[in-house]
Amino acid sequence: MKKITASGLATKRYAEGIGKTIKSGRIFALWGDLGSGKTTFVKGLARGLGLNHKIKSPTFVIFHSYPIPKTFFRFYHFDLYRLRSAAELEDLGFPEIIKNRKNIVAIEWPKIAKKFLPANTKHINFTHVKKQPNNRIIESL
Ligand SMILES: Nc1ncnc2c1ncn2[C@@H]1O[C@H](COP(=O)(O)OP(=O)(O)O)[C@@H](O)[C@H]1O
Ligand SMILES: [Mg+2]
Repeated sequence: MKKITASGLATKRYAEGIGKTIKSGRIFALWGDLGSGKTTFVKGLARGLGLNHKIKSPTFVIFHSYPIPKTFFRFYHFDLYRLRSAAELEDLGFPEIIKNRKNIVAIEWPKIAKKFLPANTKHINFTHVKKQPNNRIIESL
């Protein structure tokens, strides 16, 4: 499915709608360059899940996790930009987090995690249309 948004707010709203429908165990792999809207999308997703937390980009800490209100589930937000090896990912407990059906996981820069991702991972591609500074193409594969 292909969606074009014309502002950060529109991306958040779109993701919020998706967040409202997610079942536990869902994994999102978010592909795209710096500034293409991945973190903005995660903010909307979190709101759709009912999280009140302010979502900050976990670039320096690799991931943040948040309890999902009124459920036994947790939301994990990974940014793997700084990771160099799958071994580092294993040290962080990534494979267990992914396997736990009580978790909903969003992953920015997911390349290094590819071998751990289940077949039903939702892959989403973000593209910045350079000619239109506020347009982003959001494509679910
Ligand atoms: N349509 C849009 N969708 C998402 N972000 C947008 C859009 N238009 C402008 N922006 C801006 O682009 C930036 C995207 O940053 P961010 O979501 O952190 O990207 P990434 O995590 O992919 O590096 C934000 O400053 C946001 O406000
Ligand atoms: Mg980001």
